[in-house]
Amino acid sequence: MASSVQDSLVTVRDVEGLRQRVRSWKKSGLSVALVPTMGALHHGHVVLMEQAHAMADRVIATIFVNPSQFGPHEDFSAYPRQEARDFEILDKAGVHVLFAPTAESMYPPGFTTSVKLAGLTDVLCGPLRPGHFNGVATVVTKLLLQAQPDIALFGEKDFQQLVVIQRVAADLNIPVDIIGVATVREHDGLAMSSRNAYLTPDERAQAPALYCAIRTAAGKIHQGEDPKGATEEAKASILAAGFRSIDYVDTRQAKTLALLKRGESLGRVFAAAHLGRARLIDNVEISENV
Ligand code: PAF
Repeated sequence: MASSVQDSLVTVRDVEGLRQRVRSWKKSGLSVALVPTMGALHHGHVVLMEQAHAMADRVIATIFVNPSQFGPHEDFSAYPRQEARDFEILDKAGVHVLFAPTAESMYPPGFTTSVKLAGLTDVLCGPLRPGHFNGVATVVTKLLLQAQPDIALFGEKDFQQLVVIQRVAADLNIPVDIIGVATVREHDGLAMSSRNAYLTPDERAQAPALYCAIRTAAGKIHQGEDPKGATEEAKASILAAGFRSIDYVDTRQAKTLALLKRGESLGRVFAAAHLGRARLIDNVEISENV
């Protein structure tokens, strides 16, 4: 990685402005990392920025609350928007460019193209959030083509999203390395997420039960227990902790998201469940470390 003087953070809203900067960095031999976000930044995002810094000379963070990945009854309008606060966080984290495009510039009148996947999006969150992953795949493809980074980083909390984006980049020959970064957790194990802001204090106290349950299930499967039995036990303990309902607790192979069969232990336990007005998701690797 070439060293150079740290620029202070600038906000760019148009693709041409972004491309000019990236072109001049690349001309100087600097490598570029992209960290796409929807804002409402928390410490998990800061860790993504730090990792990006460690791997590239220049870091671009994006903030765009992407309408096409929200369903009609989801939280698009309620999703927290706090760009001024996010700017401070990114500035402190040493990010070089904040790319924050407008919805009109991302989806101008007449926009009609979308990136659609099969298979990987038919499981876990896919059937429960129809169109969600096509919206994610489309906007991330656009951001990758707009910024043309060497690497792009995504958190493993949204593990299915990470697998989808890796597939899209490979299938469409987008010249970028997609890097997964381990989930950052609160002291009690709750995965950091912008949607944790929806939890009341009581719900916040109940929320770590999700991680605790899938971690216990992963440990049992690693010891040879049937995945089906282990995930049923996990569901019971999530409901007992006060969650309103469960979308799934499921065991899947990490690369293909194919169902894990009895006797297979190389995979992950995935869960999505509702607590108050928040829908929380989490996943853990099945390994000796759980
Ligand atoms: O994970 C997110 O914040 C979003 O899904 C992403 C990757 C920024 C696309 O809008």
